[in-house]
Amino acid sequence: MEPLLEIRGLTTVFPTDDGTVCAVNDVTFSITPGKTLGLVGESGCGKSLTALSILRLVPAPGRIAAGSIWYRPKGGNAPIDLVRLCPHGDAIREIRGNEIAMIFQEPMTSLNPVYTIGNQIAESVALHQAADRKEARARAVEMLARVGIPNPRQRAKEYPHQLSGGMRQRAMIAMALCCRPALLLADEPTTALDVTIQAQVLELMKSLQQEFGMAILLITHDMGVIAEMADEVVVMYAGRVVEQGEPEAIFYKPLHPYTQGLLASVPVLGRRSKARLVAIPGTVPRLQRLPQGCAFRPRCSRRMPVCVEMPELEGASGAADASPNADHKVRCWLYDHQHGR
Ligand SMILES: Nc1ncnc2c1ncn2[C@@H]1O[C@H](COP(=O)(O)OP(=O)(O)OP(=O)(O)O)[C@@H](O)[C@H]1O
Ligand SMILES: [Mg+2]
Repeated sequence: MEPLLEIRGLTTVFPTDDGTVCAVNDVTFSITPGKTLGLVGESGCGKSLTALSILRLVPAPGRIAAGSIWYRPKGGNAPIDLVRLCPHGDAIREIRGNEIAMIFQEPMTSLNPVYTIGNQIAESVALHQAADRKEARARAVEMLARVGIPNPRQRAKEYPHQLSGGMRQRAMIAMALCCRPALLLADEPTTALDVTIQAQVLELMKSLQQEFGMAILLITHDMGVIAEMADEVVVMYAGRVVEQGEPEAIFYKPLHPYTQGLLASVPVLGRRSKARLVAIPGTVPRLQRLPQGCAFRPRCSRRMPVCVEMPELEGASGAADASPNADHKVRCWLYDHQHGR
């Protein structure tokens, strides 16, 4: 199936006092209609900025310095490169909310404090879906009910500050889903929710995905959520994709030492061995002070002299301990024919 969104070589930079930093560095991946791509990685690795770049919402002075983001609009029109659109123009506004919706990491980013929850959602429905006020209002209440907000008719009349954090998060999810977007960018959509609501919201996202064939870019640090939801996983480290593949490959045959560390630090219920959880030593480097070559090198127990050069993201099918799957890619010298061991 043709991809709905195709990101190629996306590079998003911020000028700082110490020079320009690449928060997103040469990132390439694509998302298929109806599928979920999970984006994982430690805090600060560029996950949110990847999503914000797609909607052209990178905060100034940040900017997209290179790459393309091809999006195939509803109705079978020719793909457009979102990078070429004016970030304040009508074309991207038409896409935001209507075609591509985002659940922001911080709910108050997208909720307006001076309007009631119901009005905001209804407004968005009326704007994008050519519905009259009454219809839009009914859709808003229905959506609030579907995200598990009790007494939605009453809640719709309340302002964001009257809702608890978890409820605001759900209201925002309702707002994102009310226009039935073709692509949902979900940035840590369930992190602020307790587990029962979390499961409900994930179920809701899945059922809407099945109903409307919606694609999802799911950003999370929760490997459990990835295991539950993702059809494909992209692992980022310091702005770059370091590993990519199907969840089975990533979970059972993680190749990059960073991915291996990420998984070793996740508790598994019922794991019998006395093995302790392993923390990855060290911290994510500051983008201003990235080491030469592979950015994970200083924390890596398997580093080699060649790691001072940046490895490519390549199919790992040739590696001895890799899965025989060409879609599994890794950026690590360990799987290079010449340098690998
Ligand atoms: N406004 C800004 N000015 C300068 N640098 C920024 C700005 N916003 C983000 N960055 C840099 O971009 C990098 C990536 O940020 P991003 O928000 O995408 O991380 P993230 O992976 O979403 O992290 P988290 O898991 O904490 O949400 C960060 O390391 C940060 O230093
Ligand atoms: Mg983030």
